[in-house]
Amino acid sequence: MHLHGTSAINNRGHLEIGGCDTTQLAADYGTPLYVFDEQLIRTRCREFRDAFLATGLQFQVAYASKAFCVKAMCRIVEEEGLSLDVVSDGELYTALQAGFPPQRIHFHGNNKTPQEIEMGLDANIGCFVVDNFMELHLLNELARERKMKASILLRITPGVEAHTHEFISTGQTDSKFGFDMENGSAFRAVQESLKLEQLRLLGVHSHIGSQIFEVDGFEIAADKVSRFAAQVRDELDYTFTVINLGGGFGIRYMEGDTPLPAARYIGAIADAVKNNFSARSYPLPEIWIEPGRSIVGEAGTTLYTVGSVKDIPGVRKYVAVDGGMTDNPRPALYGARYEAMLANRALDVEEEVVSIAGKCCESGDMLIWDLALPVVRTGDLLAVSSTGAYNYAMASHYNRIRKPAVIFVKDGAADVVVRRDTYEDVAGNDVIPERLRKQPEPIAKA
Ligand code: LLP
Repeated sequence: MHLHGTSAINNRGHLEIGGCDTTQLAADYGTPLYVFDEQLIRTRCREFRDAFLATGLQFQVAYASKAFCVKAMCRIVEEEGLSLDVVSDGELYTALQAGFPPQRIHFHGNNKTPQEIEMGLDANIGCFVVDNFMELHLLNELARERKMKASILLRITPGVEAHTHEFISTGQTDSKFGFDMENGSAFRAVQESLKLEQLRLLGVHSHIGSQIFEVDGFEIAADKVSRFAAQVRDELDYTFTVINLGGGFGIRYMEGDTPLPAARYIGAIADAVKNNFSARSYPLPEIWIEPGRSIVGEAGTTLYTVGSVKDIPGVRKYVAVDGGMTDNPRPALYGARYEAMLANRALDVEEEVVSIAGKCCESGDMLIWDLALPVVRTGDLLAVSSTGAYNYAMASHYNRIRKPAVIFVKDGAADVVVRRDTYEDVAGNDVIPERLRKQPEPIAKA
């Protein structure tokens, strides 16, 4: 397993993160346990900011909170000077509860409810990323009721889809998100926005994919967006001041994953923006981006305790842990692959190949297939790396399993940032209607 950030093997042969021995963390907080390397989160935030500072462009780096949205994370994002992208009332609520500055919040989503839009307006957030015509009019109306002007970006689909190493330049974009550029709907959205008095159009937004290892997709998106901006200026006499190029910067899950440093992505984006906009004599817009996975993904490690081991000679050895698809649905959902190690015997040599099973009542609940480990014993502590993004965020209560605690570790100290669920968190919202209440037993006659 690759050791990210402050992860290291200590002289007791244990994995430690943020100066904390993981066997001690497991003893103190129980397993499964999400452990976040706070220093690594901060480093990633700074890498994006520093990369932009070096370009001389005006910018905002908005952390895409969908990757991992808890109050303590919002605090770190604010402290590191980033903005925040939210996609629901729940994420917005979390950010506001954490005291995140509303003006640095951007609200996304392809189907924001009236109540969500009102919540954003009432909080006076910095920007709505408007996805469709219905939202455009709804936002205008709700802003009018409040005598407010809402700043917006229009989400457009520029016809670039990037996947890890390849990108596909599609003529027509088949997507539930945004206004299509090719079929003219993006242009109509600009025309419409300019007519709506309660809206202040800042510019456009495009997001081309996730877990991207190359810069080409971003360069093509910058080119297409600048072309669109020039068309709008030429035909509607309107100049965008902000271009948002979304998130999607890759991380390392497995050997062979080759993410680029933040400076490479940002350098390429800045060059593409400068070249394309200057070539069209267009004033350089502010550039916004929205990294999620690349801020938190590698900073997260999940600790599990090994329980049952089922050896089927000649076939496979199943090693079951005390979590699974409830705390990490990505292997079951996307076939995602992860690396892992025995955190309590980190120096032992690998002697067997096993498969790590979750504890859910479902054959598909497998966390890792074919993992080389020392001979595994019940009670061992398994650490799975790069679980910071879209793990806790996508955790469920399937099988009524309680969600694990989340802790931040730094400089030898650990802090709980999400408490482990209680049984009440699992069953406490259940209501037994009167007619189904258990009747008291009739008193038996003597
Ligand atoms: N901005 C927008 C508009 C997005 O849709 C996304 C991700 C991001 C930013 C952040 O992308 P990131 O930098 O994290 O790649 N659940 C999936 C990932 C879904 C990503 C959805 N949108 C997974 O577990 O891989």
